[in-house]
Amino acid sequence: MTSKSNLVINPQRLWDSLMETAKFGGTARGGIKRLTVSDEDRRVRDWFKAQCEALGCSVQVDSVGNMFATRPGRKDMLPIALGSHLDTQPTGGKFDGVLGVLGALEALRTMVDMGYETNAPIMIVNWTNEEGSRFAPAMLCSGVYAGVFTPDYAYSREDRDGIKLGDELKRIGYLGSEPVGTHQFQAMFELHIEQGPILEAEGKMIGVVTGVQGMRWYEVMVTGQESHTGATPMLLRKNALLGASRMIEAIHQVGLAHLPGVASVGLIENRPNSRNVVPGEVFFTVDLRHPDEAVLDKMEASFRAALGPAADKEKLTYEEKCIWKSPAVKFNPELIECVRKGAAQAGFDMREMASGAGHDAAYIARVAPTTMIFVPCLGGISHNEAESTTLEECGAGSQVLLNAVIEYDQKFA
Ligand code: GLV
Ligand code: MN
Ligand code: MN
Repeated sequence: MTSKSNLVINPQRLWDSLMETAKFGGTARGGIKRLTVSDEDRRVRDWFKAQCEALGCSVQVDSVGNMFATRPGRKDMLPIALGSHLDTQPTGGKFDGVLGVLGALEALRTMVDMGYETNAPIMIVNWTNEEGSRFAPAMLCSGVYAGVFTPDYAYSREDRDGIKLGDELKRIGYLGSEPVGTHQFQAMFELHIEQGPILEAEGKMIGVVTGVQGMRWYEVMVTGQESHTGATPMLLRKNALLGASRMIEAIHQVGLAHLPGVASVGLIENRPNSRNVVPGEVFFTVDLRHPDEAVLDKMEASFRAALGPAADKEKLTYEEKCIWKSPAVKFNPELIECVRKGAAQAGFDMREMASGAGHDAAYIARVAPTTMIFVPCLGGISHNEAESTTLEECGAGSQVLLNAVIEYDQKFA
């Protein structure tokens, strides 16, 4: 058997795969638009399946489209999982999620090339709908896996055109036959770009991720009255967009008042969205995050308290509902130690950090020991077509992922 020190990943091969998959939904500005369970998602899934099968893996799909590619180990036991997501934001980059899946694929290719046999089987997972952009909430199907949501809840999620996730899964051929939870594993490592500026600013290659901050999503509908822009005097308007804009400013202030918390409005629909109609209805979403649940409670209360006065001022009504809460998560100390050792073994500078972004690992941590590995991204920019991480950084992440998994696997020797 090959010794673990011989396992060196091939950064160029990883990079070539990243660039190859970037064509599935590739945009003119160098990013990717690969919304979950779209035709582009189907194409990248087919590619991923073929690559894994070429490595001798068996590939299964569960009933919410999660994909599991397994390479047997020397022993008959639960696998060690390496996973992330292949879906992207509407103006996503080439690395968010994709690096976690393809970095795992590169780790597996390296093991196969070197004839290295792990004790436990190795399983690469592609989780369905991590982004939550097309179908809210985020981390949906890792959430189903973790028992947070039912499959029926996932199927019933609608995009902004009223199309259901379940129907789309069927249409693209990824409504699998395996009940969710069939593919159990004993631990999961997720490689990801940091999506923030800290590693780059400190010149560190590896983020040893200790947890994920809490997140809450809300939807707000503001109702006023459509009327003629030319004929309705300023003081007689019920302008839903004006009320919504005052709410959005107040929500921004909630973030500023609870640093390092963040508060964002990212999706807004103005109706009827005609230049000579006073807007009668506005729908928008709210995203609040903080590492401390007690502070998140305060952020929620102050955001809610700001809505009434903003509506009253413009003679509007509104409805607000919380559609998702993902509590703060702490990762598993044993796996964190494996990442630390894996980074040290490869000679990379590292620092501990919490994740500002949500990840499938946050839900998987409820049902299996889990942790994450971060690598830098240029300027900390993500959820942006300009998202950029170098070949060396991608390779470093994949190498540390491989080292950490091998370290963990040693305990089954
Ligand atoms: C997922 O990308 C999130 O953090 O919203
Ligand atoms: Mn991601
Ligand atoms: Mn993302």
